[in-house]
Amino acid sequence: MGWCLFSFLCLFLKLMVLEIMVANSFTSVQPACHEDESSALMQFKDSFAIHQSASLCDPKVLQWKSHGVNSSNCCSWDGVQCDGKTGHVIGLDLSSSCLSGSINSNSTLFNLVHLQSLNLAGNNFNYSEIPVSVGQLMSLTYLNLSGSAFSGQIPLEISNLFKLTHLDLSFNYDEIARTKLLKLQSPNMSTLLQNLTSLEVLDLSEVEISSMVSCHLITF
Ligand SMILES: *[C@@H]1O[C@H](CO)[C@@H](O)[C@H](O)[C@H]1NC(C)=O
Ligand SMILES: *[C@@H]1O[C@H](CO)[C@@H](O)[C@H](O)[C@H]1NC(C)=O
Ligand SMILES: *[C@@H]1O[C@H](CO)[C@@H](O)[C@H](O)[C@H]1NC(C)=O
Ligand SMILES: *[C@@H]1O[C@H](CO)[C@@H](O)[C@H](O)[C@H]1NC(C)=O
Ligand SMILES: *[C@@H]1O[C@H](CO)[C@@H](O)[C@H](O)[C@H]1NC(C)=O
Ligand SMILES: *[C@@H]1O[C@H](CO)[C@@H](O)[C@H](O)[C@H]1NC(C)=O
Repeated sequence: MGWCLFSFLCLFLKLMVLEIMVANSFTSVQPACHEDESSALMQFKDSFAIHQSASLCDPKVLQWKSHGVNSSNCCSWDGVQCDGKTGHVIGLDLSSSCLSGSINSNSTLFNLVHLQSLNLAGNNFNYSEIPVSVGQLMSLTYLNLSGSAFSGQIPLEISNLFKLTHLDLSFNYDEIARTKLLKLQSPNMSTLLQNLTSLEVLDLSEVEISSMVSCHLITF
């Protein structure tokens, strides 16, 4: 009888320990989103029109909700990735998400300073210049602004992003006028890449590059 009681107690304790471990592993999989980052994402989303008919795109952001039992945690939103420990937003993949509209340096996107990966490829940013505030996102290792109707000079501030391993600025191209929209002239390529010493992949297809570039600069 005494043994039985003891063994039951043991089992009970073991189950409790297990439960705590399971609960802990759950919180590390789905951390709680920081309030300011959640509202930054929401304001970013609200600054665009969602044009689903425009092309083959998936309007992920339409599922983002700031209220509700299961949906207020931005870490559970489609395209958003949070750090398991800190809960900070470290990844944002909104490639081909039907975003349409302008983006400028005031965008709340640039409040997400913990971002390590940002993919906005395949949207329509309506000939916006690449905002200089992108230089604030100094944790970025991956930046993809391919095929998104960005125009103008590539800003020098991109050269702040010294952790970048992947940089894709390709195919910002005006189909109708048949012109390259992005220019890499001032700054020129050598200035832009001078401090991007971790780069492994660089795609500048259809970027207007100044003729002064010597070929050895493009090889890593
Ligand atoms: C929240 O999630 C739980 C479990 O997945 C589900 O049973 C419940 O219906 C959801 N509530 C809402 C409001 O979506
Ligand atoms: C694109 O920009 C032009 C002006 O530059 C503006 O008139 C137009 O409404 C913008 N379109 C969208 C979808 O934001
Ligand atoms: C950015 O915000 C400031 C203050 O809110 C405003 O004065 C400025 O015009 C905005 N800049 C752009 C490019 O929208
Ligand atoms: C950037 O995104 C485009 C479109 O999704 C994709 O084809 C391309 O491979 C991406 N570039 C990099 C460097 O991952
Ligand atoms: C590269 O880094 C050096 C040393 O920190 C700095 O002086 C220079 O201005 C940087 N160049 C660019 C283009 O950011
Ligand atoms: C790039 O620009 C810098 C600064 O303006 C200049 O010193 C350098 O000669 C230029 N390099 C090339 C290859 O044109």
